Amino acid sequence: MGPLRADGYHEIGTVFHALELYDELSAAPAESLLLSMRGSESAGLPTDRGNLAWRAAELLAAHAGVPARVELTIDKHIPVAGGLAGGSADAAAALLACDRLWGLGLPAGELATLAGRLGSDVAFALVGGSAIGAGRGERLRPIEGGAGFSWVLAVAHDGLSTPAVYAELDRQRGPELVRTAADPAAAIAASGLVEAVASGDPGLLASRLVNDLQPAAITLAPYLAGTLAAGRDRGALAGIVSGSGPTCAFLARDEQHARELARSLTASGACRRAYPVAGGRARATVLA
Ligand code: C5P
Repeated sequence: MGPLRADGYHEIGTVFHALELYDELSAAPAESLLLSMRGSESAGLPTDRGNLAWRAAELLAAHAGVPARVELTIDKHIPVAGGLAGGSADAAAALLACDRLWGLGLPAGELATLAGRLGSDVAFALVGGSAIGAGRGERLRPIEGGAGFSWVLAVAHDGLSTPAVYAELDRQRGPELVRTAADPAAAIAASGLVEAVASGDPGLLASRLVNDLQPAAITLAPYLAGTLAAGRDRGALAGIVSGSGPTCAFLARDEQHARELARSLTASGACRRAYPVAGGRARATVLA
């Protein structure tokens, strides 16, 4: 994790890794901008400008000089405030869907620039797979390979605020380190993580997994230490807080191992629910 920037964001060096866990967003013609939410994780979510998908449609319309006329419906299954970038995935999907609905046909690079303005993780949701993220996360370099990992996600009962986790990290680092932290792009290059992802070898990847936000997330949500321990005790190759948490991601040997681990973790009560997901292939896609 690099220094805190003047714009309030942190310079990061990270590996993004897409999981096969989806929300479905549909876009239909309408007289104005409308948004509705349904699905297992939709309770209490905003259906106005407070929703990043709404702002994505607005931004695209303003950029292209067209009226923002679309009815968006999001079938929400990615846990909210879970450190899984689900809101970012919805925003990426809204960009793609509205681009198609309004017949704009913007080049991928232009959509990526708009995505970067919406949020730090939105550009990655457009490309998916695995990628090195730099800047505040919006500058991407794809990692070849990196598909076929078997993960278990342990979802918590409540959410964590990303800005609060970053603020706690800065509190723990202290003002001097916040200003002078090492170049995160160099740190990620030296970590061996990129090679481990590209190798497709879960044992190698397990030995390299690290998340600088994890200690801060555990301070704000101390039960996470127990969730991580429960995964390790039940045979996960490694466990890590995903993004700013509180979802924990455990690496399994293969699909069968992931199914067993998910069952055992759910039964343990160490989280709200655990389920297996495949990693490394998914991205925001237009289905029709
Ligand atoms: O870009 P996004 O809206 O997803 O970021 C949410 C918050 O997370 C930011 O307001 C900031 O507090 C924090 N953040 C950060 N550095 C990053 C990415 C996010 O400090 N690189």
